[in-house]
Amino acid sequence: MNIVILAAGQGKRMHSNLPKVLHPLAGKALLAHVIDSARRLSPQTLCLVYGHGGDAVRATLDAPDLAWALQEPQLGTGHAVQQALPYLKGDGTTLILYGDVPLIRSETLERLVQVAQDALAILTVELSDPGGYGRIVRNDAGQVIRIVEQKDSTPDERRIREINTGIMAMPSARLGEWLARLSNNNAQKEYYLTDIVGMAVAEGLPIRTANPKNEWEVLGVNSKVQLAELERVAQRCTAEQLMEQGVRLADPARLDVRGELLCGRDVFIDVNCVFEGKVELDEAVEIGPNCVLKNARIGAGTRLAAFTHIEEAVVGPDGRIGPFARLRPGAELAEDVHIGNFVEIKKSSIAAHSKVNHLAYIGDATIGTRVNVGAGTITCNYDGANKFQTVIEDDAFIGSDTQLVAPVTVGRGATLGAGTTLTRDAPPDMLTVSRAKQASISGWKRPIKAVKSKE
Ligand code: UD1
Ligand code: CA
Repeated sequence: MNIVILAAGQGKRMHSNLPKVLHPLAGKALLAHVIDSARRLSPQTLCLVYGHGGDAVRATLDAPDLAWALQEPQLGTGHAVQQALPYLKGDGTTLILYGDVPLIRSETLERLVQVAQDALAILTVELSDPGGYGRIVRNDAGQVIRIVEQKDSTPDERRIREINTGIMAMPSARLGEWLARLSNNNAQKEYYLTDIVGMAVAEGLPIRTANPKNEWEVLGVNSKVQLAELERVAQRCTAEQLMEQGVRLADPARLDVRGELLCGRDVFIDVNCVFEGKVELDEAVEIGPNCVLKNARIGAGTRLAAFTHIEEAVVGPDGRIGPFARLRPGAELAEDVHIGNFVEIKKSSIAAHSKVNHLAYIGDATIGTRVNVGAGTITCNYDGANKFQTVIEDDAFIGSDTQLVAPVTVGRGATLGAGTTLTRDAPPDMLTVSRAKQASISGWKRPIKAVKSKE
């Protein structure tokens, strides 16, 4: 089987510098959705027809299994498929897809390809408002005889509600000859792919139709409004899949998965959470409202409180994170670690049962087990040019408002007094404190504001 994806169209109505088919839907380019669905059918050839300004498309999505056919200028859908002809192989079936119809399911395509055995198969739907689409014209016996474009149609034909989705499958061997016979003698002066239907009928080839299970599978993106509509459809599908697997969602309409979200049993996700890239939530993880997670793994039983932001980080089981916590790339937390509000962790590992509960920055650090990091603690890891490591060994206690000037090590069981600026290693099991001696001055007068005399 050959698959041809038409993606040379301009997409003027997107009003964007980004080529239409590169606009993201559920975190992935429109065209990438179509390519993925096509790949599931394991075609022998997967050919993309790209157009003017399409170099960005090719550069973004190129892969070894793709053949790229340039269509320049764009003279219609029939002319587009013609550009793909040199890449098509064998005498099996050729399936035509659109790069801007992203949610087509591979199950639907498989059914269409099945009915295209020695026939021309068209994916059609009945729409309450068929305006703008090509109409499926049938004879009295109900057989398809041709497709007429809206702009070439008669008032009678415009009343037909069955439309051409544009997705078709046909015997590859016939395609070249049909395309060679197309003319642009029509209202749009374009070479219409749809004209091959009439040719197939004339040759006595059966025309068969198939329908998608869901209307949204065949909806195209021509504007940002349609893009947003399809985004909600895609998110709804993801939410339903998650719920069917046992995930509890506070509101399936307020979830955004822009990538892959893998969940164990009894996961709960509150409203307005965004998941990007690959995120894994183990059993019984609870995600509070308004959390953002990107490329992260969260261990079983861990709870993230509201407004937690996690990127490229790993959280162990039974953790308590947030609210308002930020785990940046390279944060690795073991089991039962507590990270509280306004705490930022970057490129640091924290061993089991340790706590960093309030207003702290931990960067480039290795923290042992059962460590308590007090409020306001900062690792001074950067001198403006280089980054340095901080090591805090097991059972250390870091007093509040401490600055750890890296590179520096706090020994096992050491205590740092509040307000310490640690510039040399703190030995194990001792209290280390750097603090100016406290003094009280008697008879001191607080300055008072001069009172302005009225003139
Ligand atoms: C086409 C169909 C119409 C169908 C409708 C469904 C034809 C003549 N008409 O109409 O029956 O109801 O789609 O949306 O086929 N493209 C190219 N090169 C071109 C022209 C188009 O690659 O020269 C690509 C576009 O990028 C797009 C697809 O083909 O992905 C369809 O193009 P579009 O202009 O939307 O087709 P319509 O005229 O709307
Ligand atoms: Ca269209």
